[in-house]
Amino acid sequence: MKIIRAKDYKDMSRKAANIVSAQIIMKPNCVLGLATGSTPIGTYAQLVEWYNKGDLDFSEVTTVNLDEYKGLSRDNEQSYYYFMKENLFSKVNINPERTFLPDGMETDSDKACSDYNRLIANLGEVDLQVLGIGHNGHIGFNEPGTSFEAETHCVDLTESTMKANQRFFESIDDVPRQAYTMGIKTIMQAKKILLLASGEDKAQIIKEAFFGPITPQVQASVLQLHNDVTIVADEAALSLI
Ligand code: GLP
Repeated sequence: MKIIRAKDYKDMSRKAANIVSAQIIMKPNCVLGLATGSTPIGTYAQLVEWYNKGDLDFSEVTTVNLDEYKGLSRDNEQSYYYFMKENLFSKVNINPERTFLPDGMETDSDKACSDYNRLIANLGEVDLQVLGIGHNGHIGFNEPGTSFEAETHCVDLTESTMKANQRFFESIDDVPRQAYTMGIKTIMQAKKILLLASGEDKAQIIKEAFFGPITPQVQASVLQLHNDVTIVADEAALSLI
């Protein structure tokens, strides 16, 4: 595992964007696994800036996102599809038909999950998977206790995750209670993993996940078993290690 120390959020975003852009330059038709949340916003903004300068070309890139809220449509401002469109897809020359997220509007959870598993399998390998990390160690929406063998599944979000995500909604009652997420098994199959963390509030979980025991109670700890993980984190997030 490689840990890249960044000064602050801006520096983390720039360093992470460097890794993503290197992937795109080395393999223009790569498959990128993408994440939402506040943490990667700066990374996406940096990629857009380099695209605008003419340094990056997304025309052959395919993307698969980790997760989507169940019950939110693509035009709902809180959906992860909308997030991706706002922060990246609408700002670069990516082919919208090659950008994939689980279908939040599919009410049949088994179907939504098996469709997404099939789609990922058909794409072949994910070349680079970008991840954030939740305060309880979740990656994607894989909550504590989930089997490391899980593929895409429907999750009942924990109270703490709903609270953390409440800031994007008017009230906690508006936060969806369920989401579809890629499972740990799928995430671990990515060739390379890039995990981003910023801020003092992530310091404790970074310590537990990467310097503590590997346990389903801390989902991100499984990444200790992956052979190509890079963590780009700022000093605040690394302050306990
Ligand atoms: C959400 C997302 C995760 C993300 C996490 C942390 O629950 N499903 O993919 O990593 O939040 O978010 P943030 O980056 O806003 O701290």
